[in-house]
Amino acid sequence: MQTTLILLKPDTIQRGLIGEIVARIERKWLKIVGLKMMQLNDAIINEHYDFLMSKPFFPMLKAYMQSAPVVALAVSGNDAVKTIRTLTGATNPAEALPGTIRWDYALTIDANIIHASDSPETAEKELKRFFKEWEICEFEKITDKVV
Ligand code: CMP
Repeated sequence: MQTTLILLKPDTIQRGLIGEIVARIERKWLKIVGLKMMQLNDAIINEHYDFLMSKPFFPMLKAYMQSAPVVALAVSGNDAVKTIRTLTGATNPAEALPGTIRWDYALTIDANIIHASDSPETAEKELKRFFKEWEICEFEKITDKVV
């Protein structure tokens, strides 16, 4: 069982798509174990996108990520990292496969609706970045018995 981090980005909130996207995650039988709305400060964005800091688009990315709150989710399930990455689709919505979240809801790489951890190692770091230990719930869900 793996746990991964998802951020529903400001355009999800502005466009009223939180419910639709969370429903798609639940429909896949993944288990939401943490969920909260956050207004991101400079420190957390600089840490989260540290590897992009030298890119010319970084100031735009930062402004976008601070333009409204994000919704952070911790999601568990079998192969959760890969499963969620498949569900979100390619970073550039123009390259995302039809049926993925980015294909269905996003048009540009700079407002691509959702972030998802790209490996189990990254997920571990990102979950610690966005959630306190006590904000991740441990409970048995009825579907745990069948998936
Ligand atoms: P995300 O999955 O959150 O990881 C890094 C983010 O940087 C990515 O989604 C995009 O929102 C953003 N990004 C990556 N490449 C570009 C680009 N060329 N122009 C603007 N934003 C980008």
